[in-house]
Amino acid sequence: MGWNSWNTFGENIHESLIEETAAALVETGLAEIGYRFVNIDDCWHAEARDDEERLTWDAAKFPGGIPRLAEAVHGMGFGFGIYSCAGTHTCAGRVASFGNEEKDAQTFADWGVDFLKYDYCNKPFGVDGRTLYFRMGQALRSTGRHIIFSACEWGNTEPWLWGRQAGCHMWRTTGDISDSWESIKAIGFSQFGKELYAGPNAWNDPDMLVVGMKGVGNVAAGGCSLDEYKTHFALWCLLAAPLLIGCDVRSIDAESLAILGNRRLVAVNQDKMGAQARLVGSDYHHWDHTLFPTLVKPLADGGLALGMFNLHDERTVQLQAAWEAIGLHDRRPCQVQDLWTGEDLGVHRSFFCAKAAPHAGVVVKLTPLPL
Ligand code: GAL
Repeated sequence: MGWNSWNTFGENIHESLIEETAAALVETGLAEIGYRFVNIDDCWHAEARDDEERLTWDAAKFPGGIPRLAEAVHGMGFGFGIYSCAGTHTCAGRVASFGNEEKDAQTFADWGVDFLKYDYCNKPFGVDGRTLYFRMGQALRSTGRHIIFSACEWGNTEPWLWGRQAGCHMWRTTGDISDSWESIKAIGFSQFGKELYAGPNAWNDPDMLVVGMKGVGNVAAGGCSLDEYKTHFALWCLLAAPLLIGCDVRSIDAESLAILGNRRLVAVNQDKMGAQARLVGSDYHHWDHTLFPTLVKPLADGGLALGMFNLHDERTVQLQAAWEAIGLHDRRPCQVQDLWTGEDLGVHRSFFCAKAAPHAGVVVKLTPLPL
């Protein structure tokens, strides 16, 4: 959990932005809720490597230098993240790590980096991309510093099959997200079938959050409604996806803060069982998985997080989940709690149903009681 510069700021990053963001994460309470990494994405680099062939920073953007910035960010209680790429150049054309993996991993460790996002642009022709992630994973381990390794090859070579072995702690499963309902829907509801590959220290990553961008910034594409942002966040929590905020937290509005700061949903995301929700159906309903997907995430305390979503563009619908369909005995009573509001929705047997507006969801926790 943390923040990343790309979604809002793209190449327009500066050390004061990073420090102000860390301060804003503390002031808003988001740090305390668990957003504990401050990550710089692409475009922090100088034009070329230094005299000793080491990567170095753009001195206009980072006049105090990256190591000092990392120290400042650590001083505020955060881990510090940086970005490089498995090819010769990053996606935005900056110098990258191909052929210099050991040197760059050591540089990052020397700077106090705690998290590396590793992209996939400009890979030399004929080189097996997977090898490049194994190489960087090995290089990071050789530094002796614990650095979270985040692979970003967009799901091209099924990284969920080999990422864990390559030393990756998370891997992107899709192309880039943008701040629109179409993007959230396409990415968020395309994760089914990969749940067996996720677990503690190894996560499927459907890209960073756009909650709170409201149509402004680098990946802006019209913005989303409040219900759409809530669906986005609930979905990422159910999917046990990394939660990296992408908006400008210095000026975040109260509604977006309430979404990102919902402790019950964050607890579902961070649940120590580490299960990624699976898609289930129901035999009590004219069920359509495409329009009304229902997801269930088992929790370590024996409970289940249930999300039922209405992807219809105009109609409010009644959504229903039958216990049988989600793996419970059909007479098992369950205490139901609304995860958005915390409200106790009572004890239910056999099924639970509730209404959802277009693009909204019903997101609840089921706590099974004795039969
Ligand atoms: C893309 C990546 C984005 C961002 C961008 C930077 O490949 O998916 O998340 O890092 O590169 O250029």
